[in-house]
This record gives sequence, C-alpha cells and structure tokens, in this order.
Amino acid sequence: MSDCTQFPAWKKLKEHKKDMARIQMRFLFAEDPKRFKRFSLEAVGILLDFSKNRITGTTLKLLIHLARDSDLPTAIEAMFSGERINRTEGRAVLHTALRNRSAKPVYVDSVDVMPQVNEVLDRMRVFTEAVRSGKWRGYSGKRITDIVNIGIGGSDLGPVMVTQALTPYWQAGLHAHFVSNVDPSQIMETLAKVNPETTLFIVASKTFTTPETLLNAQVARRWLVDKLGDEAAVARHFVAISTNTRKVQEFGIDAVNMFEFWDWVGGRYSIWSAVGLSVALMVGMDHFETMLTGGFAMDEHFRSAPLEKNMPVIMALLGVWHNDFWNADSHAIFPYDQYLARFPAYLQQLDMESNGKSVTFSGKAVHCQTGPIIWGEPGCNGQHAFFQLVHQGTRLVPADFLVAAESQHPVEHQHEVLLANCFAQSKALMRGKTRDEARVELIRAGITGARLDTLLPHKVFPGNRPSNTLLYRKLDPYTLGALIALYEHKVFVQGVLWDINSFDQWGVELGKQLAGAIESGLIDEDKVTEHDSSTNGLMNACKRLRQS
Ligand code: F6P
Repeated sequence: MSDCTQFPAWKKLKEHKKDMARIQMRFLFAEDPKRFKRFSLEAVGILLDFSKNRITGTTLKLLIHLARDSDLPTAIEAMFSGERINRTEGRAVLHTALRNRSAKPVYVDSVDVMPQVNEVLDRMRVFTEAVRSGKWRGYSGKRITDIVNIGIGGSDLGPVMVTQALTPYWQAGLHAHFVSNVDPSQIMETLAKVNPETTLFIVASKTFTTPETLLNAQVARRWLVDKLGDEAAVARHFVAISTNTRKVQEFGIDAVNMFEFWDWVGGRYSIWSAVGLSVALMVGMDHFETMLTGGFAMDEHFRSAPLEKNMPVIMALLGVWHNDFWNADSHAIFPYDQYLARFPAYLQQLDMESNGKSVTFSGKAVHCQTGPIIWGEPGCNGQHAFFQLVHQGTRLVPADFLVAAESQHPVEHQHEVLLANCFAQSKALMRGKTRDEARVELIRAGITGARLDTLLPHKVFPGNRPSNTLLYRKLDPYTLGALIALYEHKVFVQGVLWDINSFDQWGVELGKQLAGAIESGLIDEDKVTEHDSSTNGLMNACKRLRQS
C-alpha cells in the first residue's frame, strides 16, 4: 500500500489530463462511430455506457495501469478470502459471504462462516413464511398487517431503499413502515397509523447500543404493552436483528426472537443479512434470495473479469478520474426509476461513510481527494429542480443515470417518455450547444439584432459534462441485487486506490460523544455556561423559547 499520487500511472494521467482538457466529447463521438461499442460493457444484465466521459483509449489504459499499480487484484482477493482488511477495527469484510450462492466455503480465521449464514437464512424463511401466511399471529390472535422497522443508518437505509424498490413484489395486505430518526415525531406518527394487535416491530441494530434506535424501540415497546395490557405481548410483536445478543436480551427481547449477524458485516453493507428481514417479509424469501443471487453474480463478475472489462472497476476508475484529475467535488445519482427514489440516499451512506477519509492505512494524510459528495434525485424530477446547475453551472458534476428498458407499469408510451428524457439529458450534457448552434436557433425563432446578442450567451451550453448510463431490462430483485453489489465494489476499488480504510467510520464518533453532554444540559433548568459561546447560546435560547 502506498501513496497513489506517486504511482507512475498517476503521474502519466496528470500529463494526459492536460491533453484531454482541449478535447470536446462531441468531437470524439464524431470521429469514432464505434465509441459506444468501445466504451460500454454488459455484466449481470446491466449495460454500462461510459462513452460519455472525457476519455480516450489512452485514458482508459492509464486508468487500468493505475489499478494495477495499486495491486487491486490482490486487494480484491484479500476481501473475498476473509482477510481482516478492516484493519482499524481488526475485522474481516465479508458481506459477500451473505450472498454466496455457491457451495464454496468462506473462512474467517479458518472457520467456514457459510453454515451460520445459511442457518439464519433458513430461520428468516421460516419466520417470514409464518408471518406472511398468517401462521404467526399477534398476541390477541390477529394476523400481522404492518411491519415497523426501527433502525438507523445501515439498519434503515438499505431496508427502506430495497423495500421501496421492490414495491411491485409486495404481499397484498402487508404494509411496511420505517422509523429511524430520534425526532419523536416519526415514531409517534407511525404508531398513530398502526394497530398494536396486528403490528410487528423489527428492532434492527448491529451494535444494539445506538441511542436513536433504542429510544424509538422503547417508545414502541411501552406503547404496545400499554395497549395490549401485558408484557407477554412483546414476544409476539418484537423481533431483533443484531450482532449483540446480550444487549438484545437486556432490552427485553428473547434471544429466540433474534436474528443474528456478525461483526464482519459492516452496517452499510448489511442489507444482505437479517437486516433485510423487513424486505423479506414484504416480498417473500424467494425474492429476497433472488436479490442475493443478483449480488452474487456481480461478485463473480468483479472477482473474475479482467480489469478493463470489469464494471465496478471501470466505474471506480472513472470516478477517480473526475474526482482527482478534474476536481469534481460531487457525483450525482439520477435514477430514472421512481422505485429507486431512495437509491441516492442509500449510496450516500455507502460511499460517503466508506470513503470520506483523509488518512491512509498508515495514518498519514492522503495526498489526493478521496470520496466525493454523493447526491441525487429521481429523474425527471431533478430536471425541473437542479439540472440547470448541472448543465450551465460553473461546477463539474459527473453523473450516473439509471434506467430500466421496461416499466413495471406499461401505460401507453409513458415509459418511452421517461427513457427519452433520460437519454436526452446525458446527450445534452455531453454535446452541449455551441454559440453558433444557439445563434442559428434564435434566428430561426425570429430573434435578431440587439435582442439576439443579449440572449445568446445565456443560450449556450458548454457540454463536455461526463456521465455514465446504467441500463437494465427491469428493476427486479436480481437486477437490484446486482446494482447494489456493483456500487459496493466501486466504492471498495476507490478505497484501495486511495489507500484508505473503506470499512470503518470513526468520523461519526465525535458528534455522538458531544451529544451526551449537551443532552444533559438541555434537560435541567440551569443556564448553560460550560460549552463554547455558540453552543451555550443555542442551548439557553432553547430553554428561553420553551418558556415563552
Ligand atoms: O453512526 C454510524 C453508524 O455506526 C453506521 O455505520 C451504522 O449503519 C449506524 O450507525 C447504525 O448502527 P447500528 O446498526 O449499530 O444501530
């Protein structure tokens, strides 16, 4: 492991960027009718078109060299083979074992983890089938109609995103709710919507120490016992998902109602584990396992495809190219797929919690930019909100467009309208509109003279703005699994290149520590003086406002 900026390929890329700065993508397309063919690839039912990036064959070659310089193939094998690559936490990184659909063992410290993985999957199947069939009943004998997942971060974002993405596969009569925020409004609004006799609460927390989750779970537990009038009701209405059996029991959930996972599964990588229980309840275990199969297929591709044909590797390298050589601060995710509305939020945690680091494995400051700011919204909505900046603003915003060839709901030609908008946006970003083109258009519209001169600069689109398009047949469980795994591996590859640990998250600790002291100061009546003047001022103003 070493400083990537010292790799020969990095230095060559720096020089190459100077040449590329003079080149417009629209000319690269005009020169080479085969550009799409050269710069696109298919894997696991997903087509990646990366031709609309500021790249040539030379760029790609140098980027692949960069991957080799960083010894990426060795790093990939180290992850899959259960080495403790999360070194600051001393853990293996094996979310891939959760979706290992082969008969091959996966070892952590010489112990094959697959029997325990499969045992939990079997338990999930038995439980979800019991709930879905009505065999598992609430305390008063009624069938479960509502599932409330209480969790935050990786114990929420994955379940929310996947449940929403697979809405067409939901069982009729079952409803899913998600409570993550410690803001009591969320739990209270949710409880107001559900019936205690027919509600199942899933308390999902890897550590089972996360205050937001435990506070919400306590509120839900008190509400349930109060409404049903018996502590014994908890056993029929609460299950837990965690790595921490002791804490689950302390909370008051019996270990028989606990679904286990392991410390080698990072929170943001845990949707493949029992953390996916809410998904499995809503869509059934068969669909959940099909999602695992899609993820596994992407793992196989990632592990075996040559670097230059490897989809996660290509996406990661293009990201590094934009981020480190073109100074792009952010990376936008535009799903032209309403079912993927929460995919950008899910990727925010996956990418920013993984690669928002500024020291290398050896503890030294990095010499390059690391993870970008991830953001986005579904198209076409974004077009009518922030695309103005993406097209004509001063910043470079590389983007991923995601779209299905086929709609889950064919209605007239409405899906074609969606597709047309998606393809038009990436085309517009790539081509732009020159001054001459804009002038011709204005003249055709009857605008001439001073008015033309005034309007002209506003009508020009610089173009040359990079994007990838990910096209798949339909957003089914298999494709969704492949998409999630694709981004997981993209993030991993970037972490390897930057020599950072993509699997810890120490940066979330400081705020947690400080919140404790602030919380106690807010509860008592006294004037606060022990913090900085801003924190004191805000806390005291809060007390004053409450009394007014
Ligand atoms: O605070 C960040 C974090 O640790 C995430 O990494 C994690 O997904 C989330 O909190 C929730 O943690 P837990 O599942 O242990 O409640």
